[in-house]
Amino acid sequence: MTTATYDDHADWYNAYMSPSSGGEFIDRLHTMLRELLGPGEGLCLDVCCGTGAHAAPAAALGWTPVGIDLSHGQLRHAAGRLPVAQGDATALPLADDSVPAAICVLASTDVPDYAAMLREIARVLTPGGRFVHLGVHPCFIGAFADWSEGTRIVVNERYADRSRTLDSWNPAGVRARVGAWHVPLADLLNATLAAGLRLERTTETGSGGIPDLFGFTAVKPRPATPRTTSAAPAALAHDRRLPSNR
Ligand SMILES: C[S@@+](CC[C@H](N)C(=O)[O-])C[C@H]1O[C@@H](n2cnc3c(N)ncnc32)[C@H](O)[C@@H]1O
Repeated sequence: MTTATYDDHADWYNAYMSPSSGGEFIDRLHTMLRELLGPGEGLCLDVCCGTGAHAAPAAALGWTPVGIDLSHGQLRHAAGRLPVAQGDATALPLADDSVPAAICVLASTDVPDYAAMLREIARVLTPGGRFVHLGVHPCFIGAFADWSEGTRIVVNERYADRSRTLDSWNPAGVRARVGAWHVPLADLLNATLAAGLRLERTTETGSGGIPDLFGFTAVKPRPATPRTTSAAPAALAHDRRLPSNR
């Protein structure tokens, strides 16, 4: 079941994601977004768009961003930045094969069934369309990871725990405020492949040596075209001339 958890936190989240308070983190996020999405034209669906913090970099690449999010509170802020609709990422109100690009940023910890969302994104992408996932690094950010020492991250056995929790080493962070799910790295990549998307590129960054963000580009394959070229019969004839022991 999905709930608009962010309604009560939208003003705080809008300030948190503003360039003045987000600083280096948001700059880095947007650098990754530019690298993974690349330039293009047409609609770019920002799934779980939140307050619309990524509309400007997507538009600067030539895309026309449109956002969808569950939370009316978040969309109140986003509406000034891009056209938006309220809706569930796991039941997108869009036709099959209808958008050339989609992004989902910092929401793998918020959507209860991220695999279902990936399937929906794969459904609505046009063949050849691209999807960019950007999120907290699944190996180093979670209730299982203690960053309080700064240069040494302590990861414990809770890495395998996929359930939602408000537990965090940082009482002032998003996780302690709204809670977070955990999608281990292999689950994330396997769910992307199971959705029928082809991984093209992955990237990870951190402000120091340890990455706190992980992202990838995945593409919806074009259907294979049947081989009906005039060369085919000739090739078959050629094959028939091959020695039988080949
Ligand atoms: C951490 S915020 C990220 C917002 C934005 N992408 C960003 O990077 O700032 C996570 C967002 O996911 C949204 N969300 C969670 N579950 C959702 C669902 N099933 N469908 C649509 N939006 C959802 C929340 O309302 C929230 O705005």
